[in-house]
Amino acid sequence: MITRLTIKQPDDWHLHLRDGAVLGAVLPDTARHFGRAIVMPNLVPPVVGFEAAKAYRDRILKALPDGAGFKPLMTLYLTETSDGADIARAAEAGLVHAVKLYPAGATTNSDAGVRNIETVYPVLARMSEIGLPLLVHGEVVDGDVDIFDREKIFVDRILSPLRERFPDLKIVLEHITTRDGVDFVKAQNANTAGTITPHHLMINRNALFQGGLRPHYYCLPVAKREIHRSALVDAVTSENKRFFLGTDSAPHPDKDKESACGCAGIYSSPVAISCVAQVFEDAGALENLEAFTSRNGPEFYSLPVNDADMILVRDEDPVAVPEIIQAGSDTITVFNPGTPLYWRVANE
Ligand code: NCD
Ligand code: ZN
Repeated sequence: MITRLTIKQPDDWHLHLRDGAVLGAVLPDTARHFGRAIVMPNLVPPVVGFEAAKAYRDRILKALPDGAGFKPLMTLYLTETSDGADIARAAEAGLVHAVKLYPAGATTNSDAGVRNIETVYPVLARMSEIGLPLLVHGEVVDGDVDIFDREKIFVDRILSPLRERFPDLKIVLEHITTRDGVDFVKAQNANTAGTITPHHLMINRNALFQGGLRPHYYCLPVAKREIHRSALVDAVTSENKRFFLGTDSAPHPDKDKESACGCAGIYSSPVAISCVAQVFEDAGALENLEAFTSRNGPEFYSLPVNDADMILVRDEDPVAVPEIIQAGSDTITVFNPGTPLYWRVANE
Protein backbone atom coordinates (compact mmCIF):
# COMPACT_ATOMS: atom_id res chain seq x y z
CA MET A 1 0.00 0.00 0.00
CA ILE A 2 1.24 3.49 -0.87
CA THR A 3 1.52 5.61 2.30
CA ARG A 4 3.63 8.52 1.11
CA LEU A 5 3.48 10.53 -2.07
CA THR A 6 5.38 13.56 -3.37
CA ILE A 7 3.59 15.66 -5.97
CA LYS A 8 4.13 19.11 -7.41
CA GLN A 9 2.22 21.73 -5.43
CA PRO A 10 -1.42 21.82 -6.54
CA ASP A 11 -3.41 24.79 -7.83
CA ASP A 12 -7.11 25.48 -7.41
CA TRP A 13 -8.66 26.37 -10.77
CA HIS A 14 -12.01 27.54 -9.32
CA LEU A 15 -12.19 29.27 -5.95
CA HIS A 16 -14.41 31.77 -4.10
CA LEU A 17 -12.42 33.90 -1.68
CA ARG A 18 -15.12 36.54 -0.99
CA ASP A 19 -14.03 39.79 0.65
CA GLY A 20 -13.59 41.47 4.05
CA ALA A 21 -13.72 39.26 7.16
CA VAL A 22 -14.53 36.10 5.20
CA LEU A 23 -11.57 36.64 2.87
CA GLY A 24 -9.28 36.98 5.89
CA ALA A 25 -10.73 33.82 7.42
CA VAL A 26 -10.62 31.51 4.38
CA LEU A 27 -7.50 32.66 2.54
CA PRO A 28 -4.99 30.91 4.87
CA ASP A 29 -6.72 27.57 4.24
CA THR A 30 -6.09 27.93 0.51
CA ALA A 31 -2.62 29.46 0.79
CA ARG A 32 -1.47 26.58 3.01
CA HIS A 33 -1.91 24.01 0.23
CA PHE A 34 -2.25 25.69 -3.15
CA GLY A 35 0.31 27.59 -5.21
CA ARG A 36 -2.24 29.54 -7.21
CA ALA A 37 -5.99 29.81 -7.58
CA ILE A 38 -8.36 31.12 -10.18
CA VAL A 39 -10.39 33.56 -8.10
CA MET A 40 -14.09 33.87 -8.93
CA PRO A 41 -15.43 37.40 -9.55
CA ASN A 42 -18.97 37.01 -8.13
CA LEU A 43 -18.64 39.63 -5.42
CA VAL A 44 -21.30 42.25 -4.75
CA PRO A 45 -20.86 44.27 -6.94
CA PRO A 46 -19.23 41.84 -9.38
CA VAL A 47 -15.61 42.23 -10.52
CA VAL A 48 -16.33 43.38 -14.06
CA GLY A 49 -13.35 45.42 -15.21
CA PHE A 50 -9.60 45.97 -14.99
CA GLU A 51 -9.69 48.41 -12.06
CA ALA A 52 -12.00 46.27 -9.93
CA ALA A 53 -9.85 43.18 -10.53
CA LYS A 54 -6.70 45.08 -9.62
CA ALA A 55 -8.23 46.41 -6.40
CA TYR A 56 -9.54 42.95 -5.47
CA ARG A 57 -6.15 41.37 -6.11
CA ASP A 58 -4.57 43.99 -3.84
CA ARG A 59 -7.04 43.17 -1.06
CA ILE A 60 -6.25 39.46 -1.41
CA LEU A 61 -2.49 40.06 -1.32
CA LYS A 62 -2.91 42.25 1.74
CA ALA A 63 -4.93 39.54 3.53
CA LEU A 64 -2.31 36.86 2.88
CA PRO A 65 -0.44 35.44 5.87
CA ASP A 66 3.19 36.65 6.11
CA GLY A 67 5.53 34.65 3.92
CA ALA A 68 2.79 32.91 1.93
CA GLY A 69 3.85 32.36 -1.67
CA PHE A 70 0.27 31.98 -2.90
CA LYS A 71 -0.62 33.77 -6.12
CA PRO A 72 -4.22 34.77 -6.92
CA LEU A 73 -5.10 34.55 -10.61
CA MET A 74 -7.88 37.04 -11.23
CA THR A 75 -10.97 36.66 -13.39
CA LEU A 76 -13.55 39.09 -14.76
CA TYR A 77 -17.31 38.69 -14.56
CA LEU A 78 -18.89 38.75 -18.01
CA THR A 79 -21.95 40.99 -18.42
CA GLU A 80 -23.94 41.90 -21.50
CA THR A 81 -22.19 45.27 -21.46
CA SER A 82 -18.64 44.06 -20.81
CA ASP A 83 -16.00 46.07 -22.64
CA GLY A 84 -13.80 43.87 -24.85
CA ALA A 85 -10.99 46.43 -24.91
CA ASP A 86 -10.88 46.65 -21.10
CA ILE A 87 -10.84 42.83 -20.84
CA ALA A 88 -8.00 42.63 -23.37
CA ARG A 89 -6.02 45.25 -21.44
CA ALA A 90 -6.46 43.29 -18.19
CA ALA A 91 -5.30 40.10 -19.89
CA GLU A 92 -2.34 41.72 -21.61
CA ALA A 93 -1.23 43.24 -18.29
CA GLY A 94 -1.09 39.71 -16.86
CA LEU A 95 -3.71 40.70 -14.28
CA VAL A 96 -6.61 38.59 -15.52
CA HIS A 97 -6.37 34.94 -16.56
CA ALA A 98 -9.95 34.18 -17.55
CA VAL A 99 -13.46 35.58 -17.93
CA LYS A 100 -16.42 33.99 -16.17
CA LEU A 101 -19.79 33.41 -17.79
CA TYR A 102 -22.70 33.17 -15.37
CA PRO A 103 -26.08 32.67 -16.97
CA ALA A 104 -28.18 35.31 -15.15
CA GLY A 105 -29.95 33.77 -12.17
CA ALA A 106 -28.01 30.47 -12.25
CA THR A 107 -26.23 30.79 -8.90
CA THR A 108 -25.01 33.05 -6.07
CA ASN A 109 -24.58 36.67 -7.26
CA SER A 110 -25.28 35.90 -10.89
CA ASP A 111 -27.98 38.51 -11.49
CA ALA A 112 -25.58 40.67 -13.49
CA GLY A 113 -24.75 37.69 -15.70
CA VAL A 114 -25.69 36.95 -19.28
CA ARG A 115 -29.29 36.48 -20.43
CA ASN A 116 -28.73 36.20 -24.16
CA ILE A 117 -25.41 34.59 -25.06
CA GLU A 118 -25.35 36.20 -28.49
CA THR A 119 -24.92 39.66 -26.97
CA VAL A 120 -21.44 38.66 -25.77
CA TYR A 121 -20.27 37.06 -29.03
CA PRO A 122 -18.13 40.11 -29.97
CA VAL A 123 -16.34 39.91 -26.61
CA LEU A 124 -15.85 36.15 -27.03
CA ALA A 125 -14.36 36.76 -30.48
CA ARG A 126 -11.84 39.15 -28.93
CA MET A 127 -11.00 36.65 -26.18
CA SER A 128 -10.50 33.96 -28.76
CA GLU A 129 -8.00 36.17 -30.61
CA ILE A 130 -5.93 36.85 -27.51
CA GLY A 131 -6.16 33.34 -26.06
CA LEU A 132 -8.08 34.32 -22.91
CA PRO A 133 -10.11 31.40 -21.51
CA LEU A 134 -13.86 31.55 -20.94
CA LEU A 135 -14.99 29.81 -17.75
CA VAL A 136 -18.55 28.62 -17.92
CA HIS A 137 -21.13 28.03 -15.21
CA GLY A 138 -22.93 25.43 -17.26
CA GLU A 139 -26.56 25.53 -16.19
CA VAL A 140 -29.68 26.81 -17.91
CA VAL A 141 -32.16 28.61 -15.70
CA ASP A 142 -35.37 28.06 -17.69
CA GLY A 143 -38.24 27.38 -15.32
CA ASP A 144 -39.38 24.37 -17.33
CA VAL A 145 -36.07 22.54 -16.94
CA ASP A 146 -35.70 20.15 -14.00
CA ILE A 147 -32.89 21.27 -11.70
CA PHE A 148 -31.08 17.95 -12.13
CA ASP A 149 -31.10 18.40 -15.94
CA ARG A 150 -29.79 21.95 -16.03
CA GLU A 151 -26.23 21.01 -16.92
CA LYS A 152 -27.09 18.54 -19.66
CA ILE A 153 -29.53 20.98 -21.28
CA PHE A 154 -26.94 23.77 -21.06
CA VAL A 155 -24.42 21.60 -22.87
CA ASP A 156 -26.92 20.83 -25.64
CA ARG A 157 -28.50 24.25 -26.07
CA ILE A 158 -25.76 26.75 -25.28
CA LEU A 159 -22.32 25.19 -25.02
CA SER A 160 -22.29 23.00 -28.10
CA PRO A 161 -23.26 25.85 -30.47
CA LEU A 162 -20.78 28.14 -28.68
CA ARG A 163 -18.02 25.57 -29.09
CA GLU A 164 -18.74 25.29 -32.80
CA ARG A 165 -18.90 29.01 -33.38
CA PHE A 166 -15.59 29.78 -31.62
CA PRO A 167 -13.37 26.73 -32.17
CA ASP A 168 -10.23 28.58 -31.05
CA LEU A 169 -11.70 29.98 -27.83
CA LYS A 170 -10.41 28.22 -24.73
CA ILE A 171 -13.43 27.08 -22.76
CA VAL A 172 -13.57 25.48 -19.32
CA LEU A 173 -16.80 23.83 -18.30
CA GLU A 174 -16.66 24.53 -14.57
CA HIS A 175 -17.59 22.16 -11.75
CA ILE A 176 -18.87 19.37 -13.97
CA THR A 177 -21.49 17.25 -12.23
CA THR A 178 -22.77 14.91 -14.93
CA ARG A 179 -21.64 12.17 -17.25
CA ASP A 180 -23.00 14.37 -20.04
CA GLY A 181 -20.59 17.15 -19.08
CA VAL A 182 -17.68 14.70 -18.97
CA ASP A 183 -18.61 13.24 -22.37
CA PHE A 184 -18.86 16.71 -23.85
CA VAL A 185 -15.36 17.70 -22.74
CA LYS A 186 -13.89 14.40 -23.93
CA ALA A 187 -15.45 14.80 -27.37
CA GLN A 188 -14.06 18.29 -28.01
CA ASN A 189 -10.75 19.69 -29.21
CA ALA A 190 -7.79 20.61 -27.00
CA ASN A 191 -9.31 24.04 -26.32
CA THR A 192 -11.98 22.50 -24.10
CA ALA A 193 -11.41 21.45 -20.51
CA GLY A 194 -13.38 20.83 -17.33
CA THR A 195 -12.87 21.42 -13.64
CA ILE A 196 -14.22 18.97 -11.08
CA THR A 197 -14.72 19.57 -7.35
CA PRO A 198 -13.78 17.33 -4.41
CA HIS A 199 -17.38 17.27 -3.19
CA HIS A 200 -18.85 16.16 -6.51
CA LEU A 201 -16.30 13.34 -6.52
CA MET A 202 -17.40 12.23 -3.05
CA ILE A 203 -21.12 12.73 -2.63
CA ASN A 204 -24.17 12.07 -4.74
CA ARG A 205 -27.57 13.67 -4.33
CA ASN A 206 -28.58 11.28 -1.55
CA ALA A 207 -26.24 13.20 0.76
CA LEU A 208 -28.59 16.19 0.61
CA PHE A 209 -31.38 14.20 2.24
CA GLN A 210 -29.54 11.74 4.49
CA GLY A 211 -31.78 11.52 7.57
CA GLY A 212 -33.11 15.04 6.96
CA LEU A 213 -32.30 18.15 4.94
CA ARG A 214 -28.53 18.76 4.86
CA PRO A 215 -27.80 22.34 3.83
CA HIS A 216 -24.03 21.91 3.98
CA TYR A 217 -24.20 19.54 1.01
CA TYR A 218 -26.14 22.03 -1.07
CA CYS A 219 -24.21 23.69 -3.85
CA LEU A 220 -24.73 24.57 -7.49
CA PRO A 221 -24.66 22.73 -9.71
CA VAL A 222 -26.41 20.41 -7.27
CA ALA A 223 -24.94 16.91 -6.79
CA LYS A 224 -26.46 14.33 -9.13
CA ARG A 225 -27.11 10.56 -9.15
CA GLU A 226 -24.42 7.99 -8.39
CA ILE A 227 -23.87 7.16 -12.08
CA HIS A 228 -22.79 10.74 -12.59
CA ARG A 229 -20.50 10.83 -9.55
CA SER A 230 -18.82 7.69 -10.75
CA ALA A 231 -18.38 9.15 -14.26
CA LEU A 232 -16.60 12.10 -12.64
CA VAL A 233 -14.25 9.77 -10.76
CA ASP A 234 -13.51 7.90 -14.00
CA ALA A 235 -12.77 11.20 -15.76
CA VAL A 236 -10.32 12.52 -13.18
CA THR A 237 -8.49 9.25 -12.60
CA SER A 238 -8.12 8.56 -16.34
CA GLU A 239 -5.16 10.01 -18.15
CA ASN A 240 -7.18 12.68 -19.89
CA LYS A 241 -5.26 15.96 -19.49
CA ARG A 242 -8.30 18.15 -19.91
CA PHE A 243 -9.74 17.57 -16.44
CA PHE A 244 -8.27 19.41 -13.48
CA LEU A 245 -9.06 20.35 -9.91
CA GLY A 246 -11.26 23.33 -9.18
CA THR A 247 -12.54 23.08 -5.64
CA ASP A 248 -15.39 25.60 -6.02
CA SER A 249 -14.84 26.12 -2.32
CA ALA A 250 -17.65 28.63 -1.68
CA PRO A 251 -17.92 29.81 1.92
CA HIS A 252 -21.18 31.15 3.32
CA PRO A 253 -21.82 31.95 7.00
CA ASP A 254 -23.69 29.07 8.63
CA LYS A 255 -26.61 31.37 9.42
CA ASP A 256 -27.15 31.89 5.70
CA LYS A 257 -26.97 28.17 4.90
CA GLU A 258 -29.05 26.92 7.81
CA SER A 259 -32.04 29.00 6.88
CA ALA A 260 -35.48 28.70 5.27
CA CYS A 261 -33.83 29.66 1.98
CA GLY A 262 -30.25 28.48 2.34
CA CYS A 263 -27.39 29.64 0.10
CA ALA A 264 -25.67 27.34 -2.37
CA GLY A 265 -22.00 26.67 -1.74
CA ILE A 266 -19.73 24.21 0.06
CA TYR A 267 -16.60 25.31 1.92
CA SER A 268 -13.92 22.72 1.22
CA SER A 269 -10.52 24.44 1.11
CA PRO A 270 -9.14 22.91 4.35
CA VAL A 271 -9.91 19.32 3.28
CA ALA A 272 -9.81 19.53 -0.51
CA ILE A 273 -6.45 17.81 -0.93
CA SER A 274 -7.27 15.08 1.61
CA CYS A 275 -10.54 14.43 -0.20
CA VAL A 276 -9.03 14.21 -3.63
CA ALA A 277 -6.19 11.94 -2.49
CA GLN A 278 -8.79 9.67 -0.89
CA VAL A 279 -10.80 9.50 -4.10
CA PHE A 280 -7.71 8.55 -6.08
CA GLU A 281 -6.67 5.94 -3.51
CA ASP A 282 -10.15 4.41 -3.51
CA ALA A 283 -10.04 4.26 -7.31
CA GLY A 284 -6.59 2.63 -7.24
CA ALA A 285 -5.20 5.53 -9.25
CA LEU A 286 -2.84 7.46 -6.96
CA GLU A 287 -0.28 7.57 -9.76
CA ASN A 288 -2.60 9.92 -11.66
CA LEU A 289 -3.29 12.29 -8.75
CA GLU A 290 -0.55 14.78 -9.60
CA ALA A 291 -1.79 15.26 -13.15
CA PHE A 292 -5.24 16.24 -11.87
CA THR A 293 -4.12 18.49 -9.01
CA SER A 294 -0.92 20.01 -10.34
CA ARG A 295 -0.14 19.48 -14.03
CA ASN A 296 -3.20 19.53 -16.28
CA GLY A 297 -4.40 22.96 -15.12
CA PRO A 298 -1.14 24.83 -15.77
CA GLU A 299 -0.84 23.15 -19.14
CA PHE A 300 -4.29 24.33 -20.21
CA TYR A 301 -3.65 27.87 -18.93
CA SER A 302 -0.14 27.93 -20.50
CA LEU A 303 1.50 28.48 -17.11
CA PRO A 304 4.47 26.68 -15.58
CA VAL A 305 3.91 23.88 -13.10
CA ASN A 306 4.67 25.01 -9.53
CA ASP A 307 8.28 24.51 -8.38
CA ALA A 308 7.46 23.42 -4.85
CA ASP A 309 6.66 19.86 -3.85
CA MET A 310 3.78 18.72 -1.68
CA ILE A 311 4.28 15.67 0.51
CA LEU A 312 1.20 13.60 1.21
CA VAL A 313 1.15 11.00 3.96
CA ARG A 314 -1.42 8.30 4.59
CA ASP A 315 -2.05 7.74 8.28
CA GLU A 316 -3.45 4.58 9.82
CA ASP A 317 -6.16 6.53 11.58
CA PRO A 318 -8.45 9.01 9.88
CA VAL A 319 -7.15 12.56 9.87
CA ALA A 320 -8.90 15.06 12.14
CA VAL A 321 -10.81 17.56 10.06
CA PRO A 322 -12.06 20.85 11.48
CA GLU A 323 -15.86 21.07 11.66
CA ILE A 324 -16.01 24.82 11.36
CA ILE A 325 -13.86 27.87 10.95
CA GLN A 326 -14.56 31.25 12.49
CA ALA A 327 -15.08 34.32 10.30
CA GLY A 328 -15.58 37.36 12.51
CA SER A 329 -18.64 36.55 14.61
CA ASP A 330 -19.85 33.92 12.13
CA THR A 331 -18.96 30.27 11.69
CA ILE A 332 -18.47 28.52 8.36
CA THR A 333 -18.93 24.75 8.21
CA VAL A 334 -16.16 22.77 6.52
CA PHE A 335 -17.09 20.05 4.01
CA ASN A 336 -17.31 16.64 5.66
CA PRO A 337 -17.62 13.87 3.08
CA GLY A 338 -19.16 11.54 5.68
CA THR A 339 -16.49 8.91 5.12
CA PRO A 340 -13.00 8.82 6.69
CA LEU A 341 -10.07 10.62 5.09
CA TYR A 342 -6.63 9.09 5.62
CA TRP A 343 -4.40 11.41 3.61
CA ARG A 344 -2.91 14.62 4.96
CA VAL A 345 -0.43 17.20 3.72
CA ALA A 346 2.80 16.62 5.65
CA ASN A 347 4.63 19.80 4.65
CA GLU A 348 2.03 22.51 5.31
C1 NCD B 1 -21.00 29.56 -5.55
C2 NCD B 1 -20.99 30.75 -4.59
O1 NCD B 1 -21.48 30.62 -3.47
O2 NCD B 1 -20.46 31.81 -4.96
N1 NCD B 1 -21.95 28.59 -5.07
C3 NCD B 1 -21.97 27.28 -5.35
O3 NCD B 1 -22.91 26.59 -4.93
N2 NCD B 1 -21.02 26.70 -6.05
C4 NCD B 1 -21.29 30.01 -6.94
C5 NCD B 1 -21.05 28.98 -8.00
O4 NCD B 1 -19.90 28.63 -8.31
O5 NCD B 1 -22.04 28.48 -8.56
ZN1 ZN C 1 -18.06 28.51 -8.00
